[in-house]
Amino acid sequence: MTEIKTYPPSADFVKNAHIDATKYNEMYAASINDPDGFWAKQAERLTWAKTPTKIKNVSFAHPDVSIKWFEDGELNVSANCIDRHLDTRADQTAIIWESDDPGISKHITYLELSEQVNKLANVLKNDLGISKGDRVVLYMPMIPEAAYAMLACARIGAIHSIVFAGFSPEALAARVDGCAAALVITADEAPRGGRNTPLKANVDKALAICGDTQVLVVERTGADVNMQDGRDHAYHTLMAHASTDCPAEPMNAEDALFILYTSGSTGAPKGVLHTSGGYLLWAAMTHEYVFDYHDGDVYWCTADVGWVTGHSYIVYGPLANGATTLMFEGVPTYPDVGRFWAVCEKHKVNQFYTAPTAIRALMAHGPEPVEKYDLSALKVLGTVGEPINPEAWNWYNDVVGKGTCPIVDTWWQTETGGHMMTPLPGAHATKPGAAMKPFFGVLPVVLEPTSGEEIHGNPAEGVLCMKDSWPGQMRTVYGDHDRFVKTYFSDYKGYYFAGDGCRRDEDGDYWITGRVDDVINVSGHRMGTAEVESALVAHPKVSEAAVVGFPHDIKGQGIYCYVTLMEGEEYTDELKTELRNWVRKEIGPIASPDAIQWAPGLPKTRSGKIMRRILRKIAENDYGALGDTSTLADPSVVDDLIANRVQK
Ligand code: WTA
Repeated sequence: MTEIKTYPPSADFVKNAHIDATKYNEMYAASINDPDGFWAKQAERLTWAKTPTKIKNVSFAHPDVSIKWFEDGELNVSANCIDRHLDTRADQTAIIWESDDPGISKHITYLELSEQVNKLANVLKNDLGISKGDRVVLYMPMIPEAAYAMLACARIGAIHSIVFAGFSPEALAARVDGCAAALVITADEAPRGGRNTPLKANVDKALAICGDTQVLVVERTGADVNMQDGRDHAYHTLMAHASTDCPAEPMNAEDALFILYTSGSTGAPKGVLHTSGGYLLWAAMTHEYVFDYHDGDVYWCTADVGWVTGHSYIVYGPLANGATTLMFEGVPTYPDVGRFWAVCEKHKVNQFYTAPTAIRALMAHGPEPVEKYDLSALKVLGTVGEPINPEAWNWYNDVVGKGTCPIVDTWWQTETGGHMMTPLPGAHATKPGAAMKPFFGVLPVVLEPTSGEEIHGNPAEGVLCMKDSWPGQMRTVYGDHDRFVKTYFSDYKGYYFAGDGCRRDEDGDYWITGRVDDVINVSGHRMGTAEVESALVAHPKVSEAAVVGFPHDIKGQGIYCYVTLMEGEEYTDELKTELRNWVRKEIGPIASPDAIQWAPGLPKTRSGKIMRRILRKIAENDYGALGDTSTLADPSVVDDLIANRVQK
């Protein structure tokens, strides 16, 4: 076996780090040996209206899964992210906003953040009649008002559900309907990469599908938008006369904070529900330790608030820690491919967190666009969203980090609330492509996929499961606890099953090998192949569709669709274009198929089940290794598919 090079942090870095190797080992052992004691102590990093005395109350036993942390504690998430910092940080920048336009940025202090959030909380309560427990959908650009809206909901106990602004009106309608939202907060338009997405017009289309709710519209570009009397309200008008004092609603630690829809192997996306105390503690603690965030640092996570990374690592984690968090409206390639590095230089960014897909896309342009900028403030680099290939890791390390910034490859999920497996930058010698070690309180196991037996000893390879709960874990699928139990706790009883495969190497370090189910990761966006299939078969000319992922140099995975048409329909190139546009309309541009192959026949077993394994191999150009095809009803279908595969 080839020797893997490891990258230890420098002695200087270790000296200043919150957690070194010894401390990691001590704290990890304490977190596993005495979870109640460990988490009662860690909970002190939050400000509680009522200090919890009951710490952990969890059962993973099928089918009675129940997860509670700090269940008799009371706190308010917005008070933790704002109010408690005001004595010491009123004039410190809370949010640096960098617009899509490189000439425009804003610094928002904690005092300003407080005023805006209090006002908006009053608007929600007094003008729009939103109260504790109501659901509010956010469909917004990456502007400070998105953070204000999240925190204003948290302040009054309303549950936000953010829908990524790249989703189509159809996808938005399903999510507004799914949680019976009382309000949608949006903007006139969302500028990104020099182009404007008509958010308000999309909301109008969505409400035409799912029925009206109130709408609050932030003016971002000033574009002329339709405002329906009595239904639509202008943000700036209502904010103008709102009071800057709105008392924070005391919330039980287990009261819901937000819903976030995410894709799974089957069915429509599900509403992942996170609660208040455990989630915030997890986001705050991981943010501080994993990025080794110190007071006064400028921290930048390039994600969008429409994804969980934006929730935990742009808004909640950093603000709970009194950090300065950068919020970027644009894209890495606008106005040119140096934008990320220009922003790092401009705001002297200390910690930078992005996705492998962005690194690969920028790597293709060589080192010059990076080297033009002064990146000397950088201390820690992070990645998230998909496995990072060693080539991209090395480029990130050498060209961006100049070999001096530890890279934290953070494995986690919408469901986990925050980081689960990652190196801590002052504690571990990293390995390119490895998620390395469990965070405090995380108890990973590698199971043999078929028997479900734990594999002890190293090395080991199998499916990744968690043996016990951690405070940031999702509590349920909104409105469907049975689905929660079925999705995460049924395949391997007694464990939380993440959906990923993994390998534990000789040193006991973890490597994530990718999803083992029908979820794919396209440019770091998580998608269910079943969702794309159901969009395709919704087209009147399509009778059947099977969708698989294939390796893609930049996106990580691309979307490959096999499509069978209705009897009598003609297989034409025009129809391929039409189907591509159709999927974009049904789901959004992120679901745009990379390849469509006409498949007059699909490989099926005699009982009619599509053999996706074979379709995956063909899409991967790996058809030399199709395995056993003898159980197919009509094996000749496979030869036809191979002969007509799409060259990518
Ligand atoms: C994948 C994003 C390898 C994984 C925070 C997981 C990763 C899914 C990594 C969750 C990583 C995330 N290395 N794979 N560092 N981080 N993944 O819910 O397959 O959008 O199950 O959460 O992304 O995606 P989600």
